[in-house]
Amino acid sequence: MIKIAPSILAADFSKLAEEVKDVEKGGADYIHIDVMDGHFVPNISMGPVVVEAVRKATNLPLDVHLMIENPDRYIKAFAEAGADIITVHVEATRHLHRTLQEIRKNGVKSGVVLNPATPASTIAHVLEEIDMVLLMTVNPGFGGQAFIDAVLPKISEVRRMIEKRELCIDIEVDGGIHEGTIIACQKAGANVFVAGSAIFNRKDRHAAIRDIRSKLVN
Ligand code: DX5
Ligand code: ZN
Repeated sequence: MIKIAPSILAADFSKLAEEVKDVEKGGADYIHIDVMDGHFVPNISMGPVVVEAVRKATNLPLDVHLMIENPDRYIKAFAEAGADIITVHVEATRHLHRTLQEIRKNGVKSGVVLNPATPASTIAHVLEEIDMVLLMTVNPGFGGQAFIDAVLPKISEVRRMIEKRELCIDIEVDGGIHEGTIIACQKAGANVFVAGSAIFNRKDRHAAIRDIRSKLVN
């Protein structure tokens, strides 16, 4: 199932609720929330209080992308703030399997994220514990970066791993996704598409979502 997930990192934070409602009206399927700690990535963004505020503004599922060290410490807080999906980076988690179980224990869907340089094999042993794989198509930390083509074969590889095990797991791509890059990602096997600047840098967000979706094959 195809999903478009606007990343609010590129939204106007002085009117965040309006921004979220606008993309909901424009046909967004998820709201993607980028949490950065200034350690795992060189940028600081938002925490549970922002998730709580977004929760009040929309009924859409909140897709919370944790770019933080030791995410275990904050799973409960993000679950209580209203996250529907929590994804953690393989590179930031010492006991990945335990962390993913912890997410599900909190009643939230779990996902695992791979940086562009991290191989698909690192998640082979946790596929049973997850609902989504998020493949970064830029190095995490900032919006508006250029898509890294070299990740495309990894999307296909993960899709094959999932099919071989007959599991039902979404593949999300994040970073540099726009009308020009989304088709190759879908062809490779992705079905959830994060877009920050491609949506929020346009005045008409409804048109932006429509244009992106029009590139995808149902
Ligand atoms: C990057 C974040 C992305 C970012 C995407 O670290 O994980 O979600 O907001 O922004 P764009 O779509 O502008 O590349
Ligand atoms: Zn993200």
